[in-house]
Amino acid sequence: MTQAFDTPPAVELHCHVEGTLEPELILELAERNRVSLPYADLDDLRARYAFTDLQHFLDLYYANMAVLRTAEDFAAMTTAYLRRAAAGGLRHVELFVDPQAHLVRGVPLEAVLEGVGGALAAAPDGITSGLIPNFLRDRPVDEASEVLDALLASGADLLGIGLDSAEVGHPPGDFADVYARARAAGLRLVAHAGEEGPASYVTDALDVLGVERVDHGIRCLDDHALVRRLVDEAVPLTVCPLSNVRLRTVDTLADHPLPGMLDAGLAVSVHSDDPAYFGGYVDDNHRAVREALGLDHAQVRRLADNAVDAAFVDDRRRAELRAEVAAWAQP
Ligand code: ADE
Ligand code: ZN
Repeated sequence: MTQAFDTPPAVELHCHVEGTLEPELILELAERNRVSLPYADLDDLRARYAFTDLQHFLDLYYANMAVLRTAEDFAAMTTAYLRRAAAGGLRHVELFVDPQAHLVRGVPLEAVLEGVGGALAAAPDGITSGLIPNFLRDRPVDEASEVLDALLASGADLLGIGLDSAEVGHPPGDFADVYARARAAGLRLVAHAGEEGPASYVTDALDVLGVERVDHGIRCLDDHALVRRLVDEAVPLTVCPLSNVRLRTVDTLADHPLPGMLDAGLAVSVHSDDPAYFGGYVDDNHRAVREALGLDHAQVRRLADNAVDAAFVDDRRRAELRAEVAAWAQP
């Protein structure tokens, strides 16, 4: 049954599963796995969440992954995410995972895929899902290529691939061959671009990698011709407002360019990125932009419709999601 939410039915297209690891679960898993962390207590850990930029966040994000050792840990993290997101109206999620961040710590790929994939398959309330492994752009391309081979050989049910981690100095083009092979294997293609990096990385993600959706993409606004192209080609941009503020790519939520992006006709939708680190899940992001930017009901509806249009789902599921958004939008 569809519940009445103050925010629309959520279609989450930009969320890193490791970024859903809440501080309490970090400490619980650390104790379970006898992993020693350099934090005195929960308050000490929480005090470290004031980030100066993307790299500052990534340092903590990767360090905290030390508590993830077994398939059960990955399942516990994913199940906790689904429970919280379902309470916020989640209907469909295409979840990112960073296999290399675990492989380099000696955690087998199978543990990651079984844990996250198993929890997704058991998602509550008719939530549908897909899994999108992301390659770490600040690690060697050869490593990404080997991990793609391992992913394809694993037999896991994968929706697509993405590209994340430290952006500046790591242009998308380096990963052209990896993306070409993933496309040939039938995987959908997305990449982070234009988060901290320049507008040219968005162009490269489209032209060199052939991505179907751009994660973040807000720096496209520095290039008018690129904005026109993104509008003409209806390229979806998965924007994460709370993340942008916490990582200081925009000064405050009130300064966020989302309203201008909507006005320009860009296919933007709102997502959470790393909800446990940035102060909110997809519903919190919708609530925050509505309040801080004064978006009206029609603009929130457009964001919700854009997310449904951008989802990698079949026609039947898209029609269901469209109907759920329409039902929510009834006065
Ligand atoms: N990995 C997790 N969150 C990320 C972000 N916001 N940008 C790049 N890589 C990430
Ligand atoms: Zn992201």
